Amino acid sequence: MKQKKVWEVCAVLMFGMQILSGCKAGETAQTEKIHVGVTYYNQSDTFLNEMLSSFREELKLAAGTSETTVTVLDAAGAQRTQDDQVKELIDMGCDVLCVNLVDRADPSEIIDLARDNDVPIIFFNREPVAEDLMQWDGLYYVGAEAKQSGIMQGELAAEVIRNNEKVDRNGDGKIQYVVLEGEAGHQDAIIRTGYAVDTLKNQGIMLEKLSYQIANWSRPQAQNRMEQMIGQYQNQIELVLANNDDMALGAIDAYKGANYTENTWPIFLGIDGTHVGLQAFLEGELAGTVYNDKEGQAEAMAHLAVEISDGTVHPEKYTYLPYIKITEENVREFLERQ
Ligand code: BGC
Repeated sequence: MKQKKVWEVCAVLMFGMQILSGCKAGETAQTEKIHVGVTYYNQSDTFLNEMLSSFREELKLAAGTSETTVTVLDAAGAQRTQDDQVKELIDMGCDVLCVNLVDRADPSEIIDLARDNDVPIIFFNREPVAEDLMQWDGLYYVGAEAKQSGIMQGELAAEVIRNNEKVDRNGDGKIQYVVLEGEAGHQDAIIRTGYAVDTLKNQGIMLEKLSYQIANWSRPQAQNRMEQMIGQYQNQIELVLANNDDMALGAIDAYKGANYTENTWPIFLGIDGTHVGLQAFLEGELAGTVYNDKEGQAEAMAHLAVEISDGTVHPEKYTYLPYIKITEENVREFLERQ
C-alpha cells in the first residue's frame, strides 16, 4: 500500500511538471517497466526450470513495448526462506509476484505480505487450497489438473500392456507394478497415482501392487528407491508408474546399474514431457509420458502478470492448461517446441 501511495504521489508530481513544461501527457510518454519477482520451491526441479526459462521469453512477448525485469529466487525447500524472499521481492519494488509454494498448505504469511503491500500474486504449479486463494482479489493460480494427467497416464499404460503381451512376463494375467510418487501433500502426487491405477483397472487390466515409494520428484532419489525395490522384488516388477519423468528416468538408471538384461525390465511411464523425458520416449526407454504444458502455463502466467501488474483485477482466479498424451506421431513436434 505504502509503495503504491509513493507512486501515486510521483505520478501527480510528474503530471504537474508536464503542465509546467507545457507538454501534453502523450508527448513525454516513457516506456513502461514491469518488474516480476519469482520464487520457486527448489532450483533442482527439471520441470520448473524448463517452465521458467519459457516464462522469461513469454513475458517479453506479452509485455510488448514495455521493459521487463525478472528476478528469480530459489527457496531451497524451506517455506521460511520463501516467506523472506517474498518480502525481499516486494521491497525491491516488484509489480507482481509469481510464487511456486514450498508448502502449498502454508501460504498465509505470503498472502498477508502481498495484501498489505498491494502486490498481486500468481501462484503456479503447486496449488494452494481454494480458501486461501479466496482471501484477496489479487491472488491467482496457473497450473494443470492432476486428475487429467493420471487418467492419461493410465490410458497410455493400458494401451502398451494390451498391445504387448510380453509386458506380463510371468504370464499370470496380472501386471505386477510399483509406484514412484512425488512429494507427499503435492496435488500432483496422490491424485496422479490414484487416477492412473483406477484407469488401468477400468480398462480391464488386472493389477497387483508390489510396492510404492516416495521419491519427491527427484531422479537420484527415484534411482535409490528403485534399487531398493529391485533388491526386494528382483525380476518380478512388470510396470513402473512414476508421477513424473524425472522419477521414471531415475528408475531406468537403477535398472541400468543392476545386473538384469533388458528383457527382464519392466515398462516405465512418466508425466511431464521434459526434454530428457521426450528423448527417452523417442529412444524407446520410456513407454509413455503425458505432456505437462509448460509453455502454455508460462504464456498464461506471462499474460496475466502483465495484465495485473498495474492493479487491474482479472475476472478468473484459476487458469488450467490441458495435458496432452505424447505419441510416436507428435513427440518430435513437442521436442522442437523446447
Ligand atoms: C511436475 C513435476 C515437478 C512438480 C514440482 C509437477 O507438476 O510434474 O515434475 O517436479 O510439479 O512442483
